[in-house]
Amino acid sequence: MLVLAATKAYNKQKVLNPAIAGVFLWGHLAVTEVIRARGLVKNYNGFMAVKGIDFSVQAGECFGFLGPNGAGKTTTIKMVHCFTPISGGSLEVLGFDVTSHSRQIKARLGVVPQEDNLDPELTVQENLLLYASYFDIPRRVAAQRVQELLAFAGLETKAQVEVEHLSGGMKRRLAIIRALVNRPQLLILDEPTTGLDPEARHLIWEKMRQLKESGVTLLLTTHYLEEAAQLCDRLVIMDQGHILETGTPRELVERHVGREVLELAPLPEGGKEELAGINGEFLASQVIGQTLYLYTNRGRQLWRALQKCGLDFTHQVLRPATLEDVFLKLTGRGLD
Ligand SMILES: Nc1ncnc2c1ncn2[C@@H]1O[C@H](COP(=O)(O)OP(=O)(O)OP(=O)(O)O)[C@@H](O)[C@H]1O
Ligand SMILES: [Mg+2]
Repeated sequence: MLVLAATKAYNKQKVLNPAIAGVFLWGHLAVTEVIRARGLVKNYNGFMAVKGIDFSVQAGECFGFLGPNGAGKTTTIKMVHCFTPISGGSLEVLGFDVTSHSRQIKARLGVVPQEDNLDPELTVQENLLLYASYFDIPRRVAAQRVQELLAFAGLETKAQVEVEHLSGGMKRRLAIIRALVNRPQLLILDEPTTGLDPEARHLIWEKMRQLKESGVTLLLTTHYLEEAAQLCDRLVIMDQGHILETGTPRELVERHVGREVLELAPLPEGGKEELAGINGEFLASQVIGQTLYLYTNRGRQLWRALQKCGLDFTHQVLRPATLEDVFLKLTGRGLD
């Protein structure tokens, strides 16, 4: 059972942006642990898509699932929003068990699915009002809320436009505000910016940050490491149905690869032995293809030591470490 905490304690922790808190913050969260998964399993007719994972999401945080295609990200969040039943383990969302209280959970969360499921023949406004009717929101309240949400998404001028005539970025913003119509405590976004151009992507990131400031808990999946690094307070790295690591983006990078990475290619004839002279200057190393990656907290010293060795590489780059390096180190391959 989840720990129930006083609403007051939660409110004290959060510094709300008054400009938008009034629009989005509905009621107050009574739980500090919004999601708790223990030994969670999903088995699709004998294929184990999720292989016994543990994670917790705290109220008010942006929690991310980072992983390559087929990692099990969508499957995991489909279990969270009660779209597909769990096959094993336990899963509680907003204090309710998914196996027995799916109705209560669905009423309290918003979902932006990976595949756009807007109604293309209806206008932007009609899509929002139709969705509001599923939650029995009175028409007058719904109309007011829709106006606020259109303003939030910068879609006021598109209210009467049919969805099929919107750009990809506008459709994504519409899908996000549609998921906010019932003022959810938890907003789930499955790859919110995949396929968008950089400007549209940054606009969506800005909206997500504003939502977080307003007190909404966000659960997000992505295979863009920059998206995870920009938005997530904590994240898990998922691969082939397993969670490989959990932490803040900075913790994960510092724990596994240090602050900088030196890339060297092609790998010398004698392999890593030729680098014996600089062994003391890096924390760990990894060979992927013909490239040698040296992880370090002392990039400049490592660079200087390399020059002294007299080794010559056609490709030698010293750069800050990223979450992609963590993924490479953990799995020996890239995210895409
Ligand atoms: N309904 C289903 N029936 C059988 N297998 C499924 C089903 N849905 C997903 N899978 C399989 O489960 C695995 C995980 O899929 P999932 O969609 O959760 O991955 P993902 O991490 O979201 O990947 P992507 O980044 O491509 O969206 C994949 O191997 C997929 O083929
Ligand atoms: Mg997916």
